[in-house]
Amino acid sequence: MHSPDSPRSDAPICARTEALAVLGERVPATKVAAAQALYARVQGGTSAVSPGRVLDEPAGLPGRPARPELVEPRKLGRRSMQSPEGRAVLLHALAHIEFNAINLALDAVWRFGGMPEAFYVDWMKVASEEAHHFSLLSARLAEFGHAYGDFPAHDGLWDMCERTRGDVLARMALVPRTLEARGLDASPPIRARLQQAGDHASAAILDVILRDEIGHVLIGNRWFRHLCDEAGVDAHQTYLRLSDDYRAPKLRGPFNFEARRSAGFEEEELAALAGLETQPRIDD
Ligand SMILES: [Fe+2]
Ligand SMILES: [Fe+2]
Repeated sequence: MHSPDSPRSDAPICARTEALAVLGERVPATKVAAAQALYARVQGGTSAVSPGRVLDEPAGLPGRPARPELVEPRKLGRRSMQSPEGRAVLLHALAHIEFNAINLALDAVWRFGGMPEAFYVDWMKVASEEAHHFSLLSARLAEFGHAYGDFPAHDGLWDMCERTRGDVLARMALVPRTLEARGLDASPPIRARLQQAGDHASAAILDVILRDEIGHVLIGNRWFRHLCDEAGVDAHQTYLRLSDDYRAPKLRGPFNFEARRSAGFEEEELAALAGLETQPRIDD
């Protein structure tokens, strides 16, 4: 017999509550395993989404290890991709992006109530894939004799998460559709430099990441459009307004049009980007 107060052992656990716990987890390997296990439970039906649940924000989000030290972006040096140390610095920077990306995806799950169930499942899938990316990069970094935390990093990604904490529409516009989409543009030139340096193993990891990231931006586009349609507003104009209101980083080329098209950007938006590519840069 179960008393009304004690949860039944066979009752599904609230996946959004679990996502919040994983977000608070500080140890990278534990966070990775927990993010992947959470998505597996949701798929297996042992964890269920409660869209209506309102969760209080605990202190200390996001959980992260004491290192890497977080510094201003301009304090991060650039090194040649030709040297193993230079490639280790690059792999570390990418691992840091993926660690943040796990947190960003989990944050969307617990923070924003009242969305369709598929929204939460989508972002738990993203968290699980970001965890996989982080593991691939960490393993490669270990082959260079380094670990996550060995080099300083910056906090720009989580900063945008903070700024958009009160508005799911702004979050979808500015995190997946802006920051993750910039990753689509950044990937080919980085991959080319790794390949040129003869680092095929690292280049192969970038291929896996790019393929999955197209899916993440597609998910961002899906939910951004869903929210725009619900509000009866034009998606492109709303994006431009939010980008301005939240002081999003200015987009600049070269853009990966092929990946952006696969990630669900519309021709009107791609044409606007093509226009940016031909403009002289005034923000340098
Ligand atoms: Fe990723
Ligand atoms: Fe991603």
